Amino acid sequence: MVKKHMDGINKIERVLITGGTGLLGIALQQSAPADVMGFFNYLPSSSSPVGLPFPAMVADVTDNRQMEAVFKWAMPDVVIHTAAIGSVDFAEKNREETRKVNLEGTKIVAALCDDFQALLIYISSNAVFDGRTPFYSETSPVNPINYYGQLKVEAENVVRDSCESWAIVRPILMYGWPHPGERDNPVVWWVRSLENGSPIKVVDNVFSKPLPVWSCAEVIWQVIRQGRTGIYHAAGRDHLSLYQFALHVADVFSLDAKLITPVPDSFFPEIAPRPKDTSFDTTKMEMELGVKCIGIREGLIRMKIERAGKP
Ligand SMILES: NC(=O)c1ccc[n+]([C@@H]2O[C@H](COP(=O)([O-])OP(=O)(O)OC[C@H]3O[C@@H](n4cnc5c(N)ncnc54)[C@H](OP(=O)(O)O)[C@@H]3O)[C@@H](O)[C@H]2O)c1
Repeated sequence: MVKKHMDGINKIERVLITGGTGLLGIALQQSAPADVMGFFNYLPSSSSPVGLPFPAMVADVTDNRQMEAVFKWAMPDVVIHTAAIGSVDFAEKNREETRKVNLEGTKIVAALCDDFQALLIYISSNAVFDGRTPFYSETSPVNPINYYGQLKVEAENVVRDSCESWAIVRPILMYGWPHPGERDNPVVWWVRSLENGSPIKVVDNVFSKPLPVWSCAEVIWQVIRQGRTGIYHAAGRDHLSLYQFALHVADVFSLDAKLITPVPDSFFPEIAPRPKDTSFDTTKMEMELGVKCIGIREGLIRMKIERAGKP
């Protein structure tokens, strides 16, 4: 069957974003091309979806009937499935609940995408890799070392096996300002702690290429715009430890770097195992999609400007 989007993206598209109140869901709405007609779903427990640009409908991705109603309302050509439990530590400790949302929810969304002949963009993660052999390309073999990563691999397989039209975008550690009341990311947590004068301990033996959330949104819109399918990695330009990242945050936000102490990841034995370095090879993102990798300072300065611009 010929899919609607495969004719090329040169018409108004109807795009549904699951988890539209999340960090990425909001960035996608804020950066949507003008000719996109967008919709999103949110949970009744969500902080407050007021003020977001797309119209919204309450629906839990684990509820087939609710999601079917959302699809009938949005009649999407494209679905960006961001909704998930994103905390690696929560996932490790609350396996049944996380499996229901991250895997069973993806099965529901994937089946509906096939019914509605919509392209599914599934948001996976760098956590599909074990972190032993960076830099990972889209063809590198997966080998997750925590439960969150294991579910991402299983969900990717569901998407590949049950959808005719799909793309998988794997973001690495994302940062940006979340919607009020939504989940924090390390930058927000570090800024808040340092502003309060609280000392923080940051791991210096886990490395990443942190990604501003708007850059991830740009990757996704380019995948859609260019009618791409397959796997795409999304990462920032700079490769550094979390401790080095925190030092940049202190510097850009003019906060006291002396409050930051480097520690090895073994300092936090209670948290889920983290891969040491899942940093991506970004050749495909840059060459095929034409999206520039953003450096740490550029990303943080934009966050600082965004905050200064808020009332
Ligand atoms: N942030 C990162 O560094 C990162 C890195 C790699 C991959 N990812 C992946 O990227 C995607 C987006 O991440 P994010 O940081 O934007 O996540 P987020 O800020 O935690 O947002 C997740 C969204 O999913 C919603 N959600 C959770 N359970 C749901 C359910 N049962 N039904 C409907 N909606 C539900 C949340 O609603 P509530 O707010 O109401 O709970 C929220 O809107 C996720 O798939 C995540 O695994 C994130």
